[in-house]
Amino acid sequence: MPALPTRATAAMVDRPIPDDPEGLRSEVVRLKKIVRALMGRAERDMNARHTDFGWFQDTIRLEDQVRARTRELEEAQLHIERINRDLQSAKDRLEREVDERRRANAALEQAMEQLVQTEKLAALGSLVAGVAHELNTPLGNSLTVASALSQLVQGFNEQLEAGTLRKQTLVDFVAQCRDAASLLEKNCRRAAELIGNFKQVAVDQTSMRRRRFDLRQSIEEVLSTLHPKLKHTAYGLELAVPAGIELDSFPGPIEQIVANLVNNSLQHGFEGRSEGHIHIAAEVVSGGQILLHYSDDGAGIPDAIAKRVFDPFFTTRLGRGGSGLGLYIVYNLATAALGGTIELTSGAGRGARFDLRFPRVAPSTALRGEEHDGPG
Ligand SMILES: Nc1ncnc2c1ncn2[C@@H]1O[C@H](COP(=O)(O)OP(=O)(O)OP(=O)(O)O)[C@@H](O)[C@H]1O
Ligand SMILES: [Mg+2]
Repeated sequence: MPALPTRATAAMVDRPIPDDPEGLRSEVVRLKKIVRALMGRAERDMNARHTDFGWFQDTIRLEDQVRARTRELEEAQLHIERINRDLQSAKDRLEREVDERRRANAALEQAMEQLVQTEKLAALGSLVAGVAHELNTPLGNSLTVASALSQLVQGFNEQLEAGTLRKQTLVDFVAQCRDAASLLEKNCRRAAELIGNFKQVAVDQTSMRRRRFDLRQSIEEVLSTLHPKLKHTAYGLELAVPAGIELDSFPGPIEQIVANLVNNSLQHGFEGRSEGHIHIAAEVVSGGQILLHYSDDGAGIPDAIAKRVFDPFFTTRLGRGGSGLGLYIVYNLATAALGGTIELTSGAGRGARFDLRFPRVAPSTALRGEEHDGPG
């Protein structure tokens, strides 16, 4: 008598459903094999003499179960295949999107670079226009004086040749020549001064040698050159920079910054005041940075003006010797040469305070001749 389906046979069917397509496929194959084997066996047993009908029924039931299970597995396999297809198409879509985004980013970067170049050119354009405008006044004045002088000389010469020259004419002529010469000198000096300032704007690399130096020493040096300006005044200067702060940077720009700030305190801050104080201090802060504090207790800078003081050609002394390049140069030196930042804190009647922050070791990118476009 053939054996009834044993627990072992049931165990062969009741395995857990694998959750990967490959496992599912081999499970389906395996179950099909079991079904075929069982069917073959049932057929054989049907033909045998000792067929037991109960066992036959069990076999049929088992076979049904296996079929149902196989169907379930096949459906599960189809489902997983569908999920895989969906996943694959989602992955393709994502890859396409990443690709598109990468291309868009590259285009954006290029556009930004172009914009920066365009803005640089625009800044340069306005600087050149400003230079032309500023130089126009002293050069125009010189031209007027020179042609007036030429006419004067011609008239004088005519009188001389005609023998009609009187002593008074000669005296007047000398006085007029002296005035003309002084006007010419003043205007030429102004033009030379402006050109000197414009040269500084270009952050002249040759005058900026990098070296190791002591911060206090280099500030003392520049203050000694400013001493004559302070000597006969009631204005005082206190230097609270400790000795021994050694920098590997550009002493030239630091000296130029200090000189421009002191000149501004004298010209703007203390104008019309009987006394005034300048305080210069420095400290080493975290990250190898130097903080240089410059302050005066002068007139201060009203908020409306403070926003514009670093712009090229902004001056409140138009026509009185101001070109408005001093703080623009300071800004360029602080950022381009020293690789740092400069901040103004002020207000009308509160004095002016400039905080300059720059690295103790200047970055190697500083002073590659890049021109900065100003803060705004
Ligand atoms: N310490 C200060 N106190 C008050 N006002 C100041 C001070 N420093 C600068 N300013 C203001 O900022 C403006 C811009 O200064 P900046 O040095 O750029 O030009 P300027 O001194 O007018 O001309 P330049 O420096 O070319 O001779 C000045 O005209 C002045 O109004
Ligand atoms: Mg100035």
